[in-house]
Amino acid sequence: MSTRIDGKVAAASVIDTVKTSHAALEKATGHKAGLAVVIVGDDPASHAYVGAKGRMAKECGFNSVQHTLPVETTQEELLALVAKLNDDASIHGILVQLPLPRHLDAEPVIQSILPQKDVDGLHVVNAGKLATGDLATGLLSCTPAGAMILVKQVHGADLSGLNALVIGRSNLFGKPMAQLLLNANATVTVGHSRSKDLSALCRQADIVVAAVGRAEMVKADWLKHGATVIDVGINRIAAPELGDGKTKLVGDVDFKGCQDVAGAITPVPGGVGPMTIAMLMANTVIAAWRVLI
Ligand code: GUN
Repeated sequence: MSTRIDGKVAAASVIDTVKTSHAALEKATGHKAGLAVVIVGDDPASHAYVGAKGRMAKECGFNSVQHTLPVETTQEELLALVAKLNDDASIHGILVQLPLPRHLDAEPVIQSILPQKDVDGLHVVNAGKLATGDLATGLLSCTPAGAMILVKQVHGADLSGLNALVIGRSNLFGKPMAQLLLNANATVTVGHSRSKDLSALCRQADIVVAAVGRAEMVKADWLKHGATVIDVGINRIAAPELGDGKTKLVGDVDFKGCQDVAGAITPVPGGVGPMTIAMLMANTVIAAWRVLI
């Protein structure tokens, strides 16, 4: 049986540090950190995530602002809101919830956020700093940064000699995750939908990070015995065992099967998910310190 990596406990510890840091910031400057979250349209899952981010920002003592825009918002209107938030000195972090409705182009919107307010870590300046190994002056993408804390909890800070496989190559997760693992000296492979034999790549890996959005794709017989498994997937599937047309959340990893083979494994929910919000709060207080001091 493997160790269950508890993301809720790790996230609570990050949040404790954020609260202490924010209290010190407020005492030193008289200002609160300000986080603006922008959501366009009415996707229920996105609203649930954004609501959780706002509640946590308030709990940390931040000035938390939510901008809810109708689904028919134009690209120009969205860019105008970001420009306004860029100019607002009380706002230190801006997050535009993704995905955007299909008629909107996310990339120009993300790139219009000032890099120093880009608490999602998605601006090319922040992505470029990560790619060149500057982890100190930019802002890191929240989910990879949170996943990395969980990896380091198991293996320590130096991953020399360890093979890591990231499954998924998105800008939001796969690419920055691979960079963070590389930065910690792991030998990194990035697998994706066009990879020839993902299961064979997986069997080589000491650390597997799955972010493909395919329910329970990684099976027990894909894993090297004792591997660390970080599951970033959040998939809602039918749960006939619960009756009544009920559904449940599962990751990209078949948790039940894999827990007997893995050395350590994150559950879904309760693994990487809570870390994303915690790292968003950490980025916001860091961004505020940089401006206010
Ligand atoms: N949608 C799902 N995850 C994220 C995230 O980390 N940031 C943003 N902006 N949107 C998301």
